[in-house]
Amino acid sequence: MLDIGVLVSGRGSNLQAIIDGIEAGKIDARIKVVISDNPNAYALERCKRHSIPSRVVRREEFKSKREFEEEMVRILKEEGVELVVLAGFMRILSPHFLENFPNRVINIHPSLIPAFQGLNAQRRAVEFGSKITGCSVHIVDESVDGGPVVVQAAVPVLPEDTEETLSERILRFEHRILPQTVQWFAEGRVRIEGRRVLVEGARYGTLPVNPELEKF
Ligand code: GAR
Repeated sequence: MLDIGVLVSGRGSNLQAIIDGIEAGKIDARIKVVISDNPNAYALERCKRHSIPSRVVRREEFKSKREFEEEMVRILKEEGVELVVLAGFMRILSPHFLENFPNRVINIHPSLIPAFQGLNAQRRAVEFGSKITGCSVHIVDESVDGGPVVVQAAVPVLPEDTEETLSERILRFEHRILPQTVQWFAEGRVRIEGRRVLVEGARYGTLPVNPELEKF
């Protein structure tokens, strides 16, 4: 059983996908704590509904980014968290935070990275005129949405798409690839060698999701 912590800033639909996966018995993990940097995040409601411990840690309450991050590290360590999942957490973590969980922080991003790293990835894909975009789960390093990729899903951009319709189409895949990645970690199948991540025993070579999903 893998003990995880989830960091959120807003709606928390990706958090919900993980909760649903756990409740359905598809993920061998426990959410020990959810940390939100935003006291009004809807994600916190989801925690209440599912009796998941949650904490609010606001950047404004700390003199420095370092102290803010140290508080989050303290909580995560206290809960024995083995994998930190960023699920719509809209802050960049410093190397100091990451040192505490080497290769054990993952993030979901709504583009095929390295395209459209940073904010408003879906809007930028529409404006750019991309024909295929998607979403990625990656290991977090000191870059912004640029760490080693675990899995990506390709999503077409349609001529009539708006930021909203495209975001919705991408989100359906986010809700599959993030829980699947947590389960791959829970199964101890994720090997990281430099920039390259291998999920042991996974099937590669399929589209639109590579490697192929197993339970989601
Ligand atoms: C998701 O689309 C996620 O990929 C994106 O924020 C949204 C959060 O939604 N994350 C990023 O852009 C990170 N750079 P949610 O709160 O409903 O999971």
